[in-house]
Amino acid sequence: MARRKIIAGNWKMNKTPSEAIKLIEELKPLVNNEEVDVVFCVPAVSLTKAVEAVEGSNIAIGAENMFYEESGAYTGEIAPNMLTDIGVKYVIIGHSERREYFAETDETVNKKVHKAFEHGITPIICCGESLKQREQGITIDWIRQQIKIAFLNINSDQAKKAVIAYEPIWAIGTGKVATTEQAQEVCAAIRACIAELYDTKTAQEIRIQYGGSVSASSAPDLFAQPDIDGGLVGGASLKPDFGKIVNYNK
Ligand code: PGA
Repeated sequence: MARRKIIAGNWKMNKTPSEAIKLIEELKPLVNNEEVDVVFCVPAVSLTKAVEAVEGSNIAIGAENMFYEESGAYTGEIAPNMLTDIGVKYVIIGHSERREYFAETDETVNKKVHKAFEHGITPIICCGESLKQREQGITIDWIRQQIKIAFLNINSDQAKKAVIAYEPIWAIGTGKVATTEQAQEVCAAIRACIAELYDTKTAQEIRIQYGGSVSASSAPDLFAQPDIDGGLVGGASLKPDFGKIVNYNK
């Protein structure tokens, strides 16, 4: 079974709501590719307007974060049903920037993955090693651990619907994209880990993205790798170049 590619933009903390609508209108005609699922993950305050703006197009809207409780005294947090209520379909979970600046851990990632599935939101689960870890030769061990904890007590029906984003931290926002070999090696290791945790069928269905300085020029080679099913794109998702990335196969 051929897996459908999924290419998501991660807007991070960029664009006001009015700028977001302008950018969506600009990108909408550029990101048509019937072979690809296209997702724009935008800041929380822009989600409602973004969902409205993409109506009738091939674009789905994702959040960049979400909390793991239903409601209550969690000042500043966003509950899963707040996302589903407005039509958000995806949520990025455990991005390395959230781990670094907002104390997210593999355990909170696991809690959030559970909540996302409970509410029918597709999680884009991020993992990735630091430059130091790569130099120490512990990349695969580290990633396997992140994956094992993220998927703790997640059943195979849920797991096969998840999206995993492999994002080497040293490649994020640095212009230093991983080589296709490095990216493919880790994405294959992630798939093998999923096969160990579940079974081959689940591993064959789950989609694994590469992220970290993806550009229009690096996308075709990366996305042609057997275990890379698309990308999570930061900087380049805010530009018309994102259209070229989505149409990497044209
Ligand atoms: P980048 O960001 O494409 O700007 O490197 C990727 C990400 O952090 O998701």
